[in-house]
Amino acid sequence: MIAEYLRPERWLNPAAGPLYVQLRKRIEAAIATGLLPPESALPPEREIATVTELSRVTVRKAMSELAEQGIVVQRQGHGSFVAPRKARVEQPLSQLTSFTEDMALRGMKAASQWLERGLFLPNADEVAILGLGPRDQVARLARLRTADDRPMAIERASLSPEILPNPLAVTGSLYDVLGQAGLRPVRAVQKISAINLGADDADLLDLPAQAAGLRIERISSLADGRVAEFTRSIYRGDAYQFVAELHPIPEGGT
Ligand code: GLP
Repeated sequence: MIAEYLRPERWLNPAAGPLYVQLRKRIEAAIATGLLPPESALPPEREIATVTELSRVTVRKAMSELAEQGIVVQRQGHGSFVAPRKARVEQPLSQLTSFTEDMALRGMKAASQWLERGLFLPNADEVAILGLGPRDQVARLARLRTADDRPMAIERASLSPEILPNPLAVTGSLYDVLGQAGLRPVRAVQKISAINLGADDADLLDLPAQAAGLRIERISSLADGRVAEFTRSIYRGDAYQFVAELHPIPEGGT
């Protein structure tokens, strides 16, 4: 079945960039969709080269990138295997933590690549949710968030300039910067929904288009009721496992 899936006429496009990258993505997609399940054996390089009509050098390059990314494990003398399923980050649903804290709690190092950072003219959602005036600007931070260099989420935060006058002051954790100004949020409402990733988001998250993802929207506020932050995030579907502790409805409650 995998041989059929790797037939070049089904995916290879000589005009679409380096062949080894296309092959790597094709194999990644087979893994992401479950065609190649965790710990299953990949066909030998020579077989992949025959089926795909690519050179051994190209196949080897694709395989070694998959191995470097931890997607595939190469065992001397035994061939290549899909890596075992990664433990998901367990995320309690009731704690108001930052991405940096979530990752540190699990021994991982959070980092970001900036996609956008500055003061902009707000859109209608930002005006309504952040309670902005007609002439106000909005502080926007858009980041690709990584944990131990692995892309985890794309986060787009909007804040009133009253809360974050200088978005450039955020170089690491947003919640740290807010905390230093005495403006760390104390409550938040968060909505989570399942999505299939669009091509651009998938690309940033190093996943094939249409892979499973989570859309998370957080609106957090300060003790005085002012909205601190309106953040829309797209997480890899395999990054998090949300955990909620449930209690029975108290006697006489609704
Ligand atoms: C989480 C939340 C975001 C929040 C971010 C702050 O990921 N979903 O709403 O903006 O944490 O993280 P940090 O302080 O690491 O920038």
